[in-house]
Amino acid sequence: MSGKGRRPLALVTGGAGLIGSHLSDLLLSEGYGVRILDNLEPRTHRNGRPPWVSENAEFLHADIRDRDAVREALEGVDFVFHEAAYGGYMPEMAKYVHVNSFGTAQMLETIRDENLPVRKVVVASSQAVYREGAARCPVHGLVHPKMRPAGQLSRGDFSVRCPVCGEVAASVPTAEDAPVGGETVYAITKMDQERLVLSWGRQTGIPTVALRYSCTYGPRQSIFNPYTGIIAIFCTRLLSGNPPVIYEDGEQSRDLCYVGDIARANLLAATTDALDGLPVNIGSGTPTTVRTVATMLSDALGIDIELLVRSEFRPGEMRHLTPDLSCATAAGYAPQVGLEAGIERYLDWIKTQGDIRDYFAEAEALLRNRRIVHEAR
Ligand SMILES: NC(=O)c1ccc[n+]([C@@H]2O[C@H](COP(=O)([O-])OP(=O)(O)OC[C@H]3O[C@@H](n4cnc5c(N)ncnc54)[C@H](O)[C@@H]3O)[C@@H](O)[C@H]2O)c1
Ligand SMILES: [Zn+2]
Repeated sequence: MSGKGRRPLALVTGGAGLIGSHLSDLLLSEGYGVRILDNLEPRTHRNGRPPWVSENAEFLHADIRDRDAVREALEGVDFVFHEAAYGGYMPEMAKYVHVNSFGTAQMLETIRDENLPVRKVVVASSQAVYREGAARCPVHGLVHPKMRPAGQLSRGDFSVRCPVCGEVAASVPTAEDAPVGGETVYAITKMDQERLVLSWGRQTGIPTVALRYSCTYGPRQSIFNPYTGIIAIFCTRLLSGNPPVIYEDGEQSRDLCYVGDIARANLLAATTDALDGLPVNIGSGTPTTVRTVATMLSDALGIDIELLVRSEFRPGEMRHLTPDLSCATAAGYAPQVGLEAGIERYLDWIKTQGDIRDYFAEAEALLRNRRIVHEAR
């Protein structure tokens, strides 16, 4: 940081979580003052405040929906990194809207109405905002398929098809100008957060960036939350002696990004003006099938359990999504930790976490009951 004046102060909402805590550590190491606002959501933090919340950060145990607490948290802040959110495939609908959409709107309103001298807001968006990954049709070239119809999925046909001719289309990287329209409640509220922040930035003139993260993993990812984080869910299943449950046929692919790379992307977004006003894909740039992830984990753990593939599916879920990272890389982003190395770091960490329980079985039954998970015929 430059030597003049006081050190910049960053507010990291959700700073006790996976991404927020790694980002807080990075900011501290770069000379920022860090204040964390986190309500220690019980689904994620079953044992209260986790030991990795740095003693060098100020910690406010508060809810993003609490206007007074947010006002207090914003005092003297230069940079806001808004990571707090309700995430994953949880069954609640209203809570997503309340935490993610309302919480974000109220925070932005507070900064504006109180004329707070915030220099930039970086918001955690998600690749979930896309409706389906971009694809290439043998006849029509680059296409943006619609979400796969539930009728097709329930026949056990999981393919992505060209929206013009209906031919099976191959996955290609998805750029930021692809149509959005993710249909899970989570996706809808991540889109709300992104649009609220970017449009507020245009109105107020305060620089903003929305980072569309891909699937993020790494040490500190909750081992209690069975609704989010494929690597964490598969690992807790395996370590508790249960097979990972694979939706669809396991050939769907995801971009898995190590949390340290996501943290560095946030720092970059705060320090360059090249990304201001934009939604920006952040990830590893390398697709991996869900089946491969499960196999990599069971191999690395030395646990030989057959995967549970039951042709169940979650309507609204994408088949393939690999982010096109050109926008971020042009601004200096470069992912550094590959999947194998990242998994090794995660496993080293999870082995220090004591007894691992499986919370997934119960959650899965609930998701079926709430019609979030369906069975293909
Ligand atoms: N992990 C991923 O794969 C991924 C992918 C795309 C986007 N994101 C987004 O990144 C952000 C961080 O995700 P993460 O993976 O670190 O999740 P996480 O659950 O580990 O962390 C989120 C943190 O927010 C806190 N929080 C939740 N509700 C809150 C509330 N009402 N008030 C205050 N704090 C609250 C939680 O206690 C938790 O510490 C989220 O906005 C998420 O939607 C994550
Ligand atoms: Zn076609």
